[in-house]
Amino acid sequence: MKDSVNRKVFSYSLLDSTQDEAKRLVSKGEQLPFFVIARKQTKGRGRLGRRWVSDEGGVWLTYALKPTENVNLLISNYAAAIVVKRMIEEYGVICSLRWPNDVFVENAKICGIISEAEYFGNELSFLAIGIGLNVENDVSMKKELKRDVDSKEIAERLIRHIEDYFSHVNKNEVIREYLNALDTIGKKIRVKVDDSCIEGIAKGLDDEGLLIIDEGRNEVRLADGELQAA
Ligand code: BTN
Repeated sequence: MKDSVNRKVFSYSLLDSTQDEAKRLVSKGEQLPFFVIARKQTKGRGRLGRRWVSDEGGVWLTYALKPTENVNLLISNYAAAIVVKRMIEEYGVICSLRWPNDVFVENAKICGIISEAEYFGNELSFLAIGIGLNVENDVSMKKELKRDVDSKEIAERLIRHIEDYFSHVNKNEVIREYLNALDTIGKKIRVKVDDSCIEGIAKGLDDEGLLIIDEGRNEVRLADGELQAA
């Protein structure tokens, strides 16, 4: 389904998961890039195997795109967080980003992002960036902005921002902007990675976007993990 400016947006009232629908569309031969959006999801997927509650009142969106030298899995994740932050800040509130991909207003997580890479054989075929933005529900933009916001309008706005940002995305700029918005740097943090925990000071991001943690004796670099209260 092409919208008025020729973007491919597949819109549903109900889906299992927009991530899964994006995969089905690609395997049926749909050309990248495209968006999938649903008013409700029955199997919304969060990071680390968690369920993502996706009742009406949010924007549940997947952007499926080809990876490039400027956009790999990690960078796509950061870039999406920047786009969401910029979009929300147009409403006059400041957002912060929590590594690796949560968007906060004050102390409320109002958006979560999951980036998944799909392979055909050994070849990286496409990236599916899933954005779950709480707009009119419990912990949400509406509550933090203290005004009415409409999920449909926010979805359209977000799609425009994503398309614009990703049309000239540059890896180094993404890393720089993401780093500036991170509330994690300079703090003592604990990150759970699989079954182990890494504890130290978050020092910054390296040239590839990996989070640098100073453990005292060692320096560790991470692409993913679960940030816990230190
Ligand atoms: C997180 O755990 O913070 C990430 C949540 C990502 C949820 C979004 S909603 C749209 C897309 N489809 C899914 O099934 N998950 C993502």
